[in-house]
Amino acid sequence: MNDAAKTTIGTITVAEPVFSCRNVDVYYGDKHAIKNVNIDIGRKQVLAMIGPSGCGKSTFLRCLNRMNDTIVGARVEGSITLDGQDIHEKRQDVVQLRARVGMVFQKPNPFPKSIYENVAYGPRIHGLAANRGELDEIVNQSLRRAGLWEEVKDRLNQPGTSLSGGQQQRLCIARTIAVNPEVILMDEPCSALDPIATARIEDLIDELRESYAICIVTHSMQQAARVSQRTAYFHLGDLVEVGDTNLIFTNPRAKLTEDYITGRFG
Ligand SMILES: Nc1ncnc2c1ncn2[C@@H]1O[C@H](COP(=O)(O)OP(=O)(O)OP(=O)(O)O)[C@@H](O)[C@H]1O
Ligand SMILES: [Mg+2]
Repeated sequence: MNDAAKTTIGTITVAEPVFSCRNVDVYYGDKHAIKNVNIDIGRKQVLAMIGPSGCGKSTFLRCLNRMNDTIVGARVEGSITLDGQDIHEKRQDVVQLRARVGMVFQKPNPFPKSIYENVAYGPRIHGLAANRGELDEIVNQSLRRAGLWEEVKDRLNQPGTSLSGGQQQRLCIARTIAVNPEVILMDEPCSALDPIATARIEDLIDELRESYAICIVTHSMQQAARVSQRTAYFHLGDLVEVGDTNLIFTNPRAKLTEDYITGRFG
């Protein structure tokens, strides 16, 4: 199969990209998991990534903060720039990159520490607070922005794991926000949550996009339609189509996209 011959349908560029990805390929050993993907990610908007299980959504998301570096046998090729800088440059500090490009996972994963420490940890290691008062302020603000403050303000010293699943996910979002990221990556952030907790996270995503670029992987097309402005459809490692979310869901141009969103496939 000639992968290079395939081109993505739709508009891969945006006016003010935070990320520009060009000719990105990912291999796990011999397995070609992402095939010549070209896409920009815009500031202050939500990009939803959809597609059948195994199509490469998580793999592509992990390219953006070099989380694939941690997977033995994974190889990423092509160019990925963040604010115009190649993230694979030798001088790129990966810890710094992951603070700028934070990640929220499918299963809430608070550290085995207090609620306060979960949020304070990142700012402390990145030296963002000069004293305890400043650190308290960062923790307070991050929890507020994550919509969790009112529920936890009287129990900051209790373990993060003592919270409900939805609260834990908001704690993980607070932890991500605490280090001033530019981009937040979310890999199926609501799949372990009930509908009420999911609605809270969706509302939060909508608020957060005023400040951050957000990329969300979701299996819920309703969720993609509700929270995103742009949608990318992946199939077997190819980025088949990308464009305005309304257009993708009402008037997809690729047959593969149409089959997926109408439930004929996947
Ligand atoms: N660590 C790994 N080693 C080898 N192959 C992998 C690894 N991780 C993923 N793959 C393979 O790469 C392809 C893409 O996987 P990926 O997890 O990115 O898919 P996905 O779209 O996120 O799927 P899902 O919707 O099920 O989460 C799959 O064929 C998968 O089996
Ligand atoms: Mg996945």
